[in-house]
Amino acid sequence: MKTKIVVVDKNVDEEKSYTQAVDILKSGEVVAFPTETVYGLGADATNFEAVSKIFEAKGRPADNPLIVHVDSKETALRYVQEVSSKALDCMDAFWPGALTLILKAEPEIFASNVTAGLQTVGIRVPNHPVALTLLQKLQLPLAAPSANTSGKPSPTLAEHVFHDMESKIPLVLDGGATEIGIESTVLDMTSEPPVILRPGKVSKEQIEAVIGTVRSSSGNTSNVPKSPGMKYMHYAPTAPLYLIENEKGLIEKAIEYVQEKGKSIAVISETEYPMADFNFPLSMDSLYASLRKCDLTDADLILASVESGMKENDALMNRLEKAADHKWFS
Ligand code: TXA
Ligand code: MG
Repeated sequence: MKTKIVVVDKNVDEEKSYTQAVDILKSGEVVAFPTETVYGLGADATNFEAVSKIFEAKGRPADNPLIVHVDSKETALRYVQEVSSKALDCMDAFWPGALTLILKAEPEIFASNVTAGLQTVGIRVPNHPVALTLLQKLQLPLAAPSANTSGKPSPTLAEHVFHDMESKIPLVLDGGATEIGIESTVLDMTSEPPVILRPGKVSKEQIEAVIGTVRSSSGNTSNVPKSPGMKYMHYAPTAPLYLIENEKGLIEKAIEYVQEKGKSIAVISETEYPMADFNFPLSMDSLYASLRKCDLTDADLILASVESGMKENDALMNRLEKAADHKWFS
């Protein structure tokens, strides 16, 4: 299959780009599109065959459910039930935006592979003009995980999607770089108090300011993870990645130690280390692109420099620790 990239530009055949995407989605095929967090790999959430093509293209385990995207709170309310006042308050406060709510699904709407057989569904209204226009024209719920190969960093540029999905999907809508750069916060509204299953740009403090106490999930403490995706290693670059504290010249020493062994080293950090073989930026919106750039180098080892202030950033630390498989350089 030939994969086409269409730049969605107000000046160039915008209408035609959306018509094309809508036709492909309605015919049961998959289309990648930008959201404000990362690029998504979308399919009609009511069509089992279409959704199975997402799992196939990503190489994603079937027990990991997908997030459903809709164009508004009103549309979302047609697909979910037993919606608490806290859930409604979250919709009003954070939608459109980077907050996915886990709610009880209305039965017999979603294909069973969207929810991995669960009675709940993860749903959000994305805050991106291309995603919203696509959803308004499509008039169907769009199941969409991040548009990367399973286990690779989520795509923040159309070219990342193309790299992973070339010849596997027919169309990528190119809306430029995504603004936030990491996936949405996932908040389980079926527990009381609600539980953050995946941290994101919408923080615990911001949510608590609207609905009061919420809990943070500690990850894989039970055998049956509440958010099935949390049990898989994510975002891993090819070379081994270690986190490192940026203190007392430790990074310089580490670079020297690795290079003395004849190995090359890439550093991901807020500041550059001229002695390193490769340097890439570290922030929420640049992390995934930097991990992908490391894969294009011949670095034998990657260090990610964790500044003291970064440790309070749950969302960024969660992605860094997963990418490093919790390894710290010492
Ligand atoms: O920002 C995002 O959320 C992006 C963009 C494309 O919207 N999407 C995304 O989807 O990151 P995905 O499939 O890569 O991550 C979905 C996460 C997984 O951790 C999954 O386990 C969890 O949401 N999830 C989905 N449905 C769930 C459910 N019913 N119960 C618990 N967790 C659920
Ligand atoms: Mg993902």
